[in-house]
Amino acid sequence: MSTRRSVAFIGSECYPFVKTGGLGDVMYALPKALTKQNCDVKVILPRYKCIPWKYQEKMVYRGSFNMDLCADGRSFYVGIMEYVWDGVVYDFIDNEDFFGYGSPYTNLIDDIPRYCFFAKAALAALNYMNWIPDVIHCHDWQAALGPVFLRTLFAHTPIGNAKSILTIHNLRFQGIYNIETIKYWTNLPDYVFNKDALTQDWVNANLLKGGLNYCDMITTVSNTYAGEIQTPFYGEGLDAHLRFHARKLRGIVNGIDCDLWNSATDEKLAVPYDITDVLTKKRENKQAMQEQLGLVQDDHMFVVGLISRLTDQKGLDLVNAVISPMLDGHTQIVVLGTGDEKYENAFRHYEGSHKGMVCSNIMYDEGRAHRIYAGCDALLVPSLFEPCGLTQLIAMRYGTIPIVRETGGLKDTVEPYNQFNNTGNGFTFDRYESGLLLDAINRAKTLYFTNRWCWDEMVQRDMDKDVSWDSSAAQYRALYLELKP
Ligand code: ADP
Ligand code: GLC
Repeated sequence: MSTRRSVAFIGSECYPFVKTGGLGDVMYALPKALTKQNCDVKVILPRYKCIPWKYQEKMVYRGSFNMDLCADGRSFYVGIMEYVWDGVVYDFIDNEDFFGYGSPYTNLIDDIPRYCFFAKAALAALNYMNWIPDVIHCHDWQAALGPVFLRTLFAHTPIGNAKSILTIHNLRFQGIYNIETIKYWTNLPDYVFNKDALTQDWVNANLLKGGLNYCDMITTVSNTYAGEIQTPFYGEGLDAHLRFHARKLRGIVNGIDCDLWNSATDEKLAVPYDITDVLTKKRENKQAMQEQLGLVQDDHMFVVGLISRLTDQKGLDLVNAVISPMLDGHTQIVVLGTGDEKYENAFRHYEGSHKGMVCSNIMYDEGRAHRIYAGCDALLVPSLFEPCGLTQLIAMRYGTIPIVRETGGLKDTVEPYNQFNNTGNGFTFDRYESGLLLDAINRAKTLYFTNRWCWDEMVQRDMDKDVSWDSSAAQYRALYLELKP
């Protein structure tokens, strides 16, 4: 424990400043956990206009410079705005051209230049601040050029001494765009545009692929996903590339921040609760939620939640297929999410056709998410693929039983219920089939309605399960030490 390690996180979102999904949670919780394990952490983020003013106004100007970026010599302003919170230093890269509009992700035409700029500006900012960490830890395609710049344009600068890790949170998004444009916005040497690094095909370059090649270590967010992405089904076209780099690929499962997700102190809930009074207090939270959401008020209902980006990754086709057979008069469904129009509309439709039994909250709302985790009996996560998944972890911590497909991190974090020795944390199914999802839901319902004693024991077992970052943060720390002994 004694050797101190320093690490710079580079990524495109971070709770509470800006979050669209689990990456935002990890960028907040992991650095915080690492500071408790003898690490110095700086988190480098874009200063998006959409970051709430209450944070913007507390940022302190740390300096600025002009940085060459493009092939034609165009240079850009890089400002560094700093905010220190909970032992973690957040440095926001300020630039109006790239971050002065819209939400973090708009479309690739804008996103490719802004994240080419961001990855380079992050390294340049570290040099400028003269803060040279042992490791730069980059996250997803938006930061994937970090390791490429590090070993090329920055190789003979102070930051060139750092090692690099690239973490894959979701292989589906890779940052693929035509070679000419990426050459223009990075001014990277021609030799990185070879088929083992940045080149995707005759026309396109792939930022993630380049990062995977140049980084010292690749991690992804669960052990199962680390294996899956080396197969064609989950590999998103990069399975061969990942197999080639398999010796530097590791899976480290995510945790959640147990201060942020703590039902005993959660001010967003109708009534706080812990493992000793969950059985009565969860019922009160359920009633309050039913009232708030306009559901039939009856605490004997089996209430199933779904909190998710509404995209095909999340297994929503299966959910669509089982909604009608699920609704038996004793079951209610609560959805919270935004995303593809076809799913948003389908859930709106079910709310209309099953008034009082289905509630579709087509919105992004943190407070509502907390109340749904607390108020539901079970949470659905039937994903087609799931690198880790955080909602099943939060659910367990709130005594809500997860019903999940055995893929990626879902498989690694939810042990299937075993009725013979009364063990396990949730209900699971393997193949991507609606019949199997329905079967898992029915097994959950059967236990809930006919053997509440065992159900309640599982609720308490889940609340007791360690879903914190402690052990995974220790694994990241060990990795930093391995790279920089
Ligand atoms: P992903 O990153 O693929 O979206 P995760 O399960 O890793 O999936 O993380 C999702 C995170 O986003 C969780 O913290 C979840 O509570 C939150 N979340 C998803 N949709 C919403 C929403 N509509 N409102 C509030 N929080 C949401
Ligand atoms: C991605 C994945 C999700 C994971 C999250 C944080 O968004 O889809 O499974 O939990 O990143 O690592």
